[in-house]
Formats: sequence, structure tokens, C-alpha cells
Amino acid sequence: MGDMSLFWNLWIIVPTIGGLLACLWIMNWLTNTPAQPGEKVETMGHVWDENLEEYNNPLPRWWLNLFYITIFFAFGYLLLYPGLGGFGGLLGWSASGAWKQEMQAAETRYGPIFEKFLATPIETLAADEDARRAGERLYASYCATCHGSDARGVRGFPNLRDHDWLWGGEPAAIVKTIQEGRQGMMPAWSEILDEQQIADVVTHVLRISGADTDPVAAARGEAVYAQNCAACHGAEGKGMAALGAPNLTDEIWLYGGSSARITETIVKGRMGRMPAWGEFLGPAKVHVVSAYVWSLSNEAAAEGHAAAAVAPTSGLAAGGSDTH
Ligand code: HEC
Ligand code: HEC
Repeated sequence: MGDMSLFWNLWIIVPTIGGLLACLWIMNWLTNTPAQPGEKVETMGHVWDENLEEYNNPLPRWWLNLFYITIFFAFGYLLLYPGLGGFGGLLGWSASGAWKQEMQAAETRYGPIFEKFLATPIETLAADEDARRAGERLYASYCATCHGSDARGVRGFPNLRDHDWLWGGEPAAIVKTIQEGRQGMMPAWSEILDEQQIADVVTHVLRISGADTDPVAAARGEAVYAQNCAACHGAEGKGMAALGAPNLTDEIWLYGGSSARITETIVKGRMGRMPAWGEFLGPAKVHVVSAYVWSLSNEAAAEGHAAAAVAPTSGLAAGGSDTH
């Protein structure tokens, strides 16, 4: 600690203590005894309208006592808690320490519950009311900012309720997405394709997604597509989960399906990034929030598992999930 920190310490300590002492002094000055009958009343020295004077009479006792109490409280507080520059207070309390303690308490309380959830398969967990609620809370805290509070997404942030997945919707794929994060890489084509080729391939994309477009331009675009796009989006445009390349034949668009939007996507490229949560949340919470996300698009399956859990002999097949 150099002189600077001593200076800044005093910068805080001196006015704080000085201010409190000044308050005491002012109050003492105001506690003069009231004038006795016949005695000349002391005035503040102001005169208005020729004869309107301000008497220096004492404040009511109870009112002053309230002030004294607050000042002694302030001294006590500054002695026990941080407030005087670098002096940490006799109790050793700190905001970050209090936060750590709260986190620790939450960990001791909820840690074992999450550990128990971790041992349960996602499909079964998705049918568990408590787990689903815990997952929903995690989702609201960490995911809703990007994917929306209803999980339906917005442009650039995928809808998590539908059956259209960039990176795969099986439980293991969802866990991997959340744990490790994902980086979409759609290259920009403005330097590689000329304007005509881009217009044609947009027409082709619109055609395979069901729009009624110029068949001649679409046929030219199909050739451009086969050469430049099929490697990632698949020959038929059905997408490729390993690369996060979207299906272009459905009517679900991450970045918008109008001709202008698709052109923008192709000209500029797109790089959606899903952050990694494994380190921050730990495996158990990732597991629980994954189960919640999976349940959003598999409600029937999750209920099937609930039924299966009630009547084990009916078997897991009752789940009807595509993952078995
Ligand atoms: C290297 C792999 C790759 C190639 C090659 C590629 N894409 Fe993509 N494309 C992607 C990825 C990955 C995304 C998703 C980007 C994201 O998630 O931000 C994407 C997104 C798109 C989208 C947006 C879809 C939506 O739902 O909004 C369109 C349209 C598209 N690509 C068309 C094309 C066309 C046309 C070509 C060829 C000219 C092409 N892509 C070539 C990987 C590729
Ligand atoms: C900073 C914004 C952001 C936050 C916060 C975020 N995500 Fe994402 N997430 C994205 C983006 C962007 C993508 C799409 C990546 C791409 O374009 O390939 C994505 C993709 C996903 C996918 C894959 C969807 C698919 O179609 O394959 C899942 C699942 C997902 N997020 C779940 C979550 C969960 C659960 C959380 C909270 C723990 C979360 N995300 C928090 C931005 C975010």
C-alpha cells in the first residue's frame, strides 16, 4: 500500500468522522437552556419586516435525542462494518463474503438435489415436476435473455419449443450444446459469387422451401447450390446437425425467410454463437436445464415417461421418444 492509498483512506475517514463530530457540536449548541421569564431571549440575529425575529430556542428534547441516537448508531456501525476507508470493521463483514456465504448455503441446500437429478436420464427427468421447475428457474435466469422467456426465440436466437434443431434435438445433443456452446459458421459469399449467382441461389432456396418462384432462375440457382452450399446444407437442403447448418426446406428461419433476408444471409454470412455453460453451471445444472429444454418439444413423450414411471411394466416404449 503506497501513500496514495493512505491519502484516499484519509480522504474518506477524515470527512466522515469530522462530519459526525460537527453534527454533535451543532446539536450541543442548539441545546442551550430556554430563556427564563424576564430574561432577554437570544435571537438568531435575523430580522424580517422590521420586527419579525427568529428566536434561538432549544429544539424539543425528544427530537434531539433521536439525532443523538442516529449519531451513536453511525459510530457503532463504522466500528463494526466497513465504511472508514480501508478499515474493514471489527466484524470482518464484506459484501463479497456475504454473497459467497449465501452461495455456499444454497449449494449445501440444493447441491444434493441436483446431484440426484444428475443420476436420472433426461427423458425421465423431463417428466419430474420438481426437476422441470428447477430447470425452468435455471432457464429464466440464464437463457431467457437470448431465447425469450417463452423459449420461442427471436431472430438469430433459435426457438427451443419446435422440432427444428440446428445442432440436434436428442438429449445428448442438447446437453452438448449447453455444456460446450456452439458456433454457427455460415461463410459470406459476396466475394465468391457474383450478383446474378446470388440472386439465382436465393431463388433456389425459396423454391425448395415451398415458394412459387421463377423455375428458370431456380434451375440456375440449383447448380450454384450444388457446387457451393450442398457440402454443409446437404444435397436436398435438409441441413446438417454436425455443422449446425439449418434445414432450408422447412418454413422455419433463424434469420428470416424473405428474399431480402435470405440475400443478406448469403451476402454477409452468419455466425450465431451459443455460449458454453458447463464451467459456470456445472454438470448437474446443465443436465437439469437440458431436461427442461428437451421437455419443451417433447411434452407427450415426457408424460409417457411419467406414465411409465407409475406403471414400470408398461416399459419405456410408452415414451414414444425418437431416441430409443
Ligand atoms: C461451411 C458450411 C456452410 C456453407 C458452405 C453454406 N452454409 Fe449456409 N449456413 C451454414 C450455417 C452453419 C448456418 C447457420 C448460421 C448460424 O447459425 O448463425 C447457415 C445458415 C444459412 C441460412 C440461414 C437459414 C435460416 O434459417 O435463417 C441460409 C439461407 C443459408 N445458410 C444458405 C446458404 C447458401 C445459399 C449457401 C451457398 C451459397 C450456403 N448457405 C453455404 C453453413 C454453411
Ligand atoms: C448470449 C445469448 C445466449 C444465451 C444466454 C443462451 N443461448 Fe442458447 N443459443 C444462442 C444462439 C445464438 C444459438 C444459435 C447458435 C447457432 O446459430 O448455431 C443458441 C443455440 C442454443 C441451442 C441449440 C438450438 C438448436 O436448434 O440446435 C440450445 C439447445 C440452447 N441454445 C439452449 C440454451 C440454454 C439452455 C441456455 C441457458 C443455459 C442458453 N441457450 C443461453 C444464444 C444464447
